[in-house]
Amino acid sequence: MAKPKILKISTSIKVYNNEKDLNEEDKELLKSAMYAVENAYAPYSNFNVGAAVLLENGEIFSGNNQENAAYPSGTCAERAAVFYAASQHKNIKIKAIAIVSKSKNKKYKGPVSPCGACRQVLAEYEKRGKNKMKVIMGSSENKIYVAESIESMLPLLFGKEQL
Ligand code: THU
Repeated sequence: MAKPKILKISTSIKVYNNEKDLNEEDKELLKSAMYAVENAYAPYSNFNVGAAVLLENGEIFSGNNQENAAYPSGTCAERAAVFYAASQHKNIKIKAIAIVSKSKNKKYKGPVSPCGACRQVLAEYEKRGKNKMKVIMGSSENKIYVAESIESMLPLLFGKEQL
């Protein structure tokens, strides 16, 4: 029996000890996500999330999670922000997205990473814009995690070329 070829997939994430170590543009975007988290509506999970997207033209659009008594009807912060931005810009190019959360779970110290459904949605915009979308993730211990693109966080992603 022939041995299969192994396809190795790896990714790298930059970890900054403090937001002060970010460049000014990323710092501002993170701040916008921090403002946005204040308007999150998450009475069911108590997991408030804020997101902000930076467009190539310098504009920032932010959003937050909006839950609903019919649970699946709610939406994540990342999708609220990106859909808001895309609804205002037909030919959208997103440079970066910042995501932060306010949660009662003090045990988890890792990054606020986008859920699978949000990665799929963000990947579509990354492909549409033909540019890498930097992902800046906050954490409860103030470390900032930065991925260079959505695709780097969603290997073998499903895209329209497969349809
Ligand atoms: N949530 C987000 O807003 N973004 C994510 O990437 C992860 C999850 C929201 C959805 C729901 O309102 C709450 O967090 C708990 O899952």
